[in-house]
Amino acid sequence: MSFIEEIARRRTFGIISHPDAGKTTLTEKLLLFGGAIQEAGAVKSNKIKKGATSDFMEIERQRGISVATSVLAFNYKDKKINILDTPGHKDFAEDTFRTLTAVDSVIVVIDVAKGVEEQTEKLVEVCRMRNIPMIVFINKLDREGKDAFDLMDEVEQKLKLRVTPLSFPIGMGYDFKGIYNIWEKNINLFEGDSRKNIEETIAFSDIESKELEGIIGEKPANRLREELELIGEVYPAFSTEEYLSGDLQPVFFGSALNNFGVRELLDCFVEIAPTPRAKESDTRLVRPEEEKLSGFVFKIHANMDPKHRDRLAFVKIVSGTFEKNKPYLHVRQGKNLKFSSPNAFFAEKKEIVDISYPGDIVGLHDTGNFKIGDTLTEGEKMNFKGIPSFSPEHFRYINNADPLKSKQLEKGIDQLMDEGVAQLFTLEMNGRKVIGTVGALQYEVIQYRLEHEYSAKCTYENFPAFKACWVKPQDPKNEEFAEFKRVKQKFMGTDKYGQLVFLADSEFSIQMTQQKYPSVELFFTSDFQ
Ligand code: G4P
Repeated sequence: MSFIEEIARRRTFGIISHPDAGKTTLTEKLLLFGGAIQEAGAVKSNKIKKGATSDFMEIERQRGISVATSVLAFNYKDKKINILDTPGHKDFAEDTFRTLTAVDSVIVVIDVAKGVEEQTEKLVEVCRMRNIPMIVFINKLDREGKDAFDLMDEVEQKLKLRVTPLSFPIGMGYDFKGIYNIWEKNINLFEGDSRKNIEETIAFSDIESKELEGIIGEKPANRLREELELIGEVYPAFSTEEYLSGDLQPVFFGSALNNFGVRELLDCFVEIAPTPRAKESDTRLVRPEEEKLSGFVFKIHANMDPKHRDRLAFVKIVSGTFEKNKPYLHVRQGKNLKFSSPNAFFAEKKEIVDISYPGDIVGLHDTGNFKIGDTLTEGEKMNFKGIPSFSPEHFRYINNADPLKSKQLEKGIDQLMDEGVAQLFTLEMNGRKVIGTVGALQYEVIQYRLEHEYSAKCTYENFPAFKACWVKPQDPKNEEFAEFKRVKQKFMGTDKYGQLVFLADSEFSIQMTQQKYPSVELFFTSDFQ
């Protein structure tokens, strides 16, 4: 197969949802279709179970699972499909945001009874801002839930999407009869059998045909006809171009648990989902068809085996091919690195491969060279954009609790920050270190991992910040900027790249600062350059 054909057959995507909507179940059914796993229950959920905050064995176990499920790849209809795992727990949202920089499209799973939930809103917003093509899958149709039209309204309003259904449920819950597939023009009758792998469908090009009554009954048949008519009037016709540009989101209905409606989703997905997309770097747009390799690190997993300082850096290939033992430029460090055992990912295992293509993820063993966001090339000096840090929501001083282990503590903090577990700010005034996280759970994870992986001990102390604002003065030499820094000196720090950050203690203080020092711009993500 040629290089171009290899690119054309790749589909790299993520499944996003609020916890419990059915992401793990759907992933598993997709893998079943690809023949990548043989039975249901093979994919372990990586969600943090409720009440697990203090159970560190649980956290470690989850980390193990999370390596295994970071990338799940399988073949379906000649396409190579890479699913990138996205943690649903909100305390790990930052991880998910970063993974979204490596996907070419997403599937959004929504629970038919719960509708649009908080975590879905946040994740979809990130995808929308980046024009990532999205398909919506409304799950759990075997249960009583919201009316399909109401739900689509909710999706449009809360998620600010423009939707069009490509399948439509016939009844719901107890009366759930099946699904009319608008995309393929056929009916799939629901039998409620989760063991079923292959679905029998009944072709139905003419919905007016009297046969419909015979199959689903008179009342449901009439109702379906009315609903389809309404859909034709109210929703835009599906257009692949609009979907690809992020302007239109097709909606599918089904029940992942019962393996129902999943094949329809997958068949449409492989047909319309984008091939690896071009990506913007700080110097130019990089296209996948370019012969020279480029890629970036979007995730780092460290110290799975405490006896070895092993880290696995996950690189998304943007262009060219990644080959074993070939030297590549680590742009930030300005040095060439070779990899003798790059890992590629399959259903649930990783294997050493000789060559990988755009859209693929390779896992590189690393001894501490990589940070999230690093770029690899064949010599070109450029950096991929778009792995922002968002402002943390919790801030605490970190103190050394064992003076004999201060080196270990420093190294541990440094490496955990490289991994993206949390963000570190160093106060300008006294050099004290403040750790910012998205969720409170991270503080316990950090403390536990520092102790078990680096033999270092830490304590925390509250730091009264509310938000981290990255600071950019219009003129670094003007008096206004100098005054701002003087007045706010207790709250000024730098992030790990040395960028200036104002750790504001309240929304009010942010507003006052903006009014009083208009020439000092404040940004709420680090990605403002
Ligand atoms: P997540 O990864 O998005 O967090 O969700 P997950 O797939 O783990 O699914 C959450 C719960 O919803 C699971 O039940 C799962 O069995 C159930 N579920 C998923 N799809 C469907 C569906 O189509 N219909 C119905 N009725 N339920 C569905 P659980 O009891 O929390 O977990 P488990 O013990 O069954 O694994």
